[in-house]
Amino acid sequence: MTKALDYAHDAAKAWIEGLDARPVAARATLSQLRNRFRHALPETGMKAEEVIRWIAENANDGMLGSAGGRFFAWVIGGGLESALAADWLVATWDQNAALYACGPAVAVIEEEAGEWIKSLLDLPHEASFAFTTGCQLAHVTSLAAARYAVLKRANWDVENDGLFGAPRVTIMTNEQKHGSVERAVRYLGFGRASFMSLQTDDAGRVMPQALRRALAKATGPVIVILNAADLNVGACDPFAKLIPVAKQAGAWVHIDGAFGLFARASRRHRAQLEGVEQADSWVTDGHKWLNVPFDCGIAIVRDCDAHRAAMTLSASYIAAEESARDQIDWNPEWSRRARGVPVYAALKELGRQGVESMVDRCCAHCHALVTGIGALAGAEVVASANLNQGLIRFWKRGQTPEQDDAFTDEVIQRINTTGEAFFSGTTWRGRRAMRVSVVNWRTCARDVERAIAAVRSVLAAIDTSADYLI
Ligand SMILES: Cc1ncc(COP(=O)(O)O)c(C=O)c1O
Repeated sequence: MTKALDYAHDAAKAWIEGLDARPVAARATLSQLRNRFRHALPETGMKAEEVIRWIAENANDGMLGSAGGRFFAWVIGGGLESALAADWLVATWDQNAALYACGPAVAVIEEEAGEWIKSLLDLPHEASFAFTTGCQLAHVTSLAAARYAVLKRANWDVENDGLFGAPRVTIMTNEQKHGSVERAVRYLGFGRASFMSLQTDDAGRVMPQALRRALAKATGPVIVILNAADLNVGACDPFAKLIPVAKQAGAWVHIDGAFGLFARASRRHRAQLEGVEQADSWVTDGHKWLNVPFDCGIAIVRDCDAHRAAMTLSASYIAAEESARDQIDWNPEWSRRARGVPVYAALKELGRQGVESMVDRCCAHCHALVTGIGALAGAEVVASANLNQGLIRFWKRGQTPEQDDAFTDEVIQRINTTGEAFFSGTTWRGRRAMRVSVVNWRTCARDVERAIAAVRSVLAAIDTSADYLI
């Protein structure tokens, strides 16, 4: 019964121990991977341990080293040891964490994990929460509560009557909103036409005049969505100024804090999020800056009644335990894994001080990467590191901005091909740039040095390469 588990355990340990030495980029191509895994559904089975060995061996070089310390693309965290081990246990226990009755211990662990997260992020004690698959579903959960509340104030019961004929809700967002916000709004039936974009300053923040102007134009219920760190430049909206303005106009304020909300745990960085606690709902991810394995998002909602009204359901066969917390009342899923358990483990391993030092370390490493790469010939800093995000662009003398766009993408590709570090590109203010994002607990000064050295050698090689002669 346990041979496959033994093999998986050994393969997992080898994977973790090999992270520092292996190339960060995957080596296998799409067609190689398809050739390996695509075959007719077997008529007969094979031994469990052989299946696991076969999958692990064939997948190995098709894996991205995003769990390691030299991965700076998108915003993808790693897995703390306790969180990873807790995740293994969650899979092994195989509890259906929809109801207390189906998994008493995990229900209580998740209940406490939610309390700890609110305490760590210094959000209202009375708020309710849900552990979802990610921010995407955390947005859906929180915005469903917002939809219920703002329409209720307009004398409309959306849970009963739906949206047909309902007062039109305007959704104001920072113009740098994440795509998951747009999709959540589509899921909830508001449609893209309900968006009103709020102009930002050079640093990517909504200014109070922009919000005031938009509120003056809106008729009917309003939801305002602000950024607690956007994914390009880590910009945090000035919450202490914006939220009172929105609240005075009767709007519900929702915060996208996918990773940035964790800066609340840092005494050095929390000033950027001052006033964020005045919002009505917040979303963040466990699988980003808290470094729990995929997947784990967290929705937090001040108005518990609205949250519950939007998510709860009842069925005759559900066994409700009077005083226990049933996750089904707060979550968008029915059956679900207990993804709050790795959160509990991570917070117990790190404590408040450990989270603070992880956040501070990532911000310092991001600063070192952006300044170190930005100082190389052929590179320039587009956005200095703010929190754990920054932007770099590559250029060559005599090239047009469009050529520099293509050049930037080419340099990113070449860096990734070295296997020494991995970055991703973005478009910021109409121009291509390389994003530097540091959220992995493993990243250390040596990783930063290796990454800068890799970029240096790529730029040096390009200088003499015929492809790039001006
Ligand atoms: C700012 C921001 N919001 C939302 C999301 C979506 O999060 P998830 O992938 O957990 O759904 C991301 C993901 O990168 C993000 O960076």
